Amino acid sequence: MRIFVPGDSGALAVGADAVAAAITAEAARQELAVTLVRNGSRGLYWLEPLVEVETPAGRIAFGPVAPSDVPELVAALADPSPRGEGPPRGGGGAAPFTTHPLYLGLTEEIPFLKRQTRFTFARCGVVDPLSLDDYKAAGGLKGLAAALALAPEAIVDQVTQSGLRGRGGAGFPTGIKWKTVLAAEGSRKFVVTNADEGDSGTFADRMLMEGDPLILIEGMIIAGLAVGASHGYIYSRSEYPHANDVMAKALAIAERAGLLGTDILGSGRSFSIELRIGAGAYVCGEETALLESIEGKRGQVRAKPPLPAIKGLFGAPTVINNVLSLASVPFILAEGPAAFAAVGFGRSRGTMAVQLAGNIRHGGLFETGFGITLGALVDDIGGGTATGRPVKAVQVGGPLGAYFPPALFDTPFDYEAFAARDGLIGHGGIVVFDDTVEMARQARFAMEFCAIESCGKCTPCRIGSTRGVEVVDRIIAGRDVDANAALLADLCETMKFGSLCALGGFTPYPVMSALTHFREDFGLLPPNGR
Ligand code: NAI
Ligand code: SF4
Repeated sequence: MRIFVPGDSGALAVGADAVAAAITAEAARQELAVTLVRNGSRGLYWLEPLVEVETPAGRIAFGPVAPSDVPELVAALADPSPRGEGPPRGGGGAAPFTTHPLYLGLTEEIPFLKRQTRFTFARCGVVDPLSLDDYKAAGGLKGLAAALALAPEAIVDQVTQSGLRGRGGAGFPTGIKWKTVLAAEGSRKFVVTNADEGDSGTFADRMLMEGDPLILIEGMIIAGLAVGASHGYIYSRSEYPHANDVMAKALAIAERAGLLGTDILGSGRSFSIELRIGAGAYVCGEETALLESIEGKRGQVRAKPPLPAIKGLFGAPTVINNVLSLASVPFILAEGPAAFAAVGFGRSRGTMAVQLAGNIRHGGLFETGFGITLGALVDDIGGGTATGRPVKAVQVGGPLGAYFPPALFDTPFDYEAFAARDGLIGHGGIVVFDDTVEMARQARFAMEFCAIESCGKCTPCRIGSTRGVEVVDRIIAGRDVDANAALLADLCETMKFGSLCALGGFTPYPVMSALTHFREDFGLLPPNGR
């Protein structure tokens, strides 16, 4: 009997290792033959540790499982007769597992999972992340095989036709980026994965690296074939020790299997990948600061142009993409760009890995086609707040994203629709707050975050953020509120248009959205209230 217990950080944080150890010990004690697989997470984090059991009918889920639940669970599994799957064993005295209090039914039928469209996360939580056989059996390497048969221009063309846009946050068309690198002159070129996932409320990159690392490797190799690069880097973060460990092991497996090296799957083409770990600066997620960091320098933002696509790592043309962008590519090559483009909304094609976090009942990863409304994500799929209190605000797109009140919950999850409402979807993180949140303090937090994380290169961000904290403090203290609110808006304008990168340039989004939608929290009357 195969039993799956996630080795994902989110599951480990709530005791998955202890559950796995208890299952091994209890199965031995009850003489039940068990093969334990440490899979990735399915992304249903409120149910972790989610234990799955393979049965002829499909995988059955139990959760959240504590070590103290294990003896009863193993006893129930040892006697599967109530489902007609085999003769009773283990003494027959155990309760049927279908009536076990943690029984959730077939995993794939759990509504949170069933409602998703999983292109990128199709294997995550399903396979053993470090089994190349599992990976291939579940459709892995089909995209690479297709790419190896194509000319670089044709690969770029397929990615362009798919409509894939950068999943790191900016939504820039990936095909255009790759075309620029392909056309750029250079004796060497690089592919860099931005895995420095620093946004609050986001965990999709980590979850994928821990649950299906080979998809990222496959996507990077395809990118290398497309643009003529033979070396790549994955820039991850020190805060992700488990993901880094899985990624390093996956790279070694890929090397041993001839997937990486000087003769990719016998094609005569070469590609290698190095894993680099950042030291914890948020700004190193900004692409040029990230490149500086890989080069061994202090992570400080470079002025653009030149774009990394023209002059990137070590001065060479460089594809730098987020984990999810590169991990979307194998599907596109395997299934064709039309299959990817068939899903989506407006110019946002394919699926987005929405991450539900904060004060939410059903927190987790929900991969879906663009266009679903914010309200459906928060209320319907997320189940509202964990505290049961009314939702007051949700911050979408990380610490630099805008706060949306429930009045804007009809906004479709789409780059343009969010921009039209002075927001951004960013990397797809949604952080929910109930009615106890004080929005002026959230505005202060945004300015303080910027002040702490600023790389210091440009004045609007370096100085503006510190002045911003002071201005919000005066508002919170009730000093000259109208004048200080006007000053805050003016400061935000300067930061937005005068900063060199998104850190200083986007901090005004949370500040101004808080000021606009939650005026009473700043001691201001509503616009029509005077
Ligand atoms: P950007 O709009 O300057 O650039 C987007 C990408 O397109 C970059 O890779 C850029 O080099 C490339 N590009 C632009 N024009 C190009 C051209 N003509 N040819 C080829 N490539 C071109 O945005 P930026 O500053 O790179 O990213 C800002 C975004 O980062 C924000 O939207 C924010 O949501 C997101 N972000 C994500 C975080 C995360 O943890 N994933 C953390 C912080 C911010
Ligand atoms: Fe550095 Fe801030 Fe300027 Fe970005 S906006 S370059 S983080 S000082």
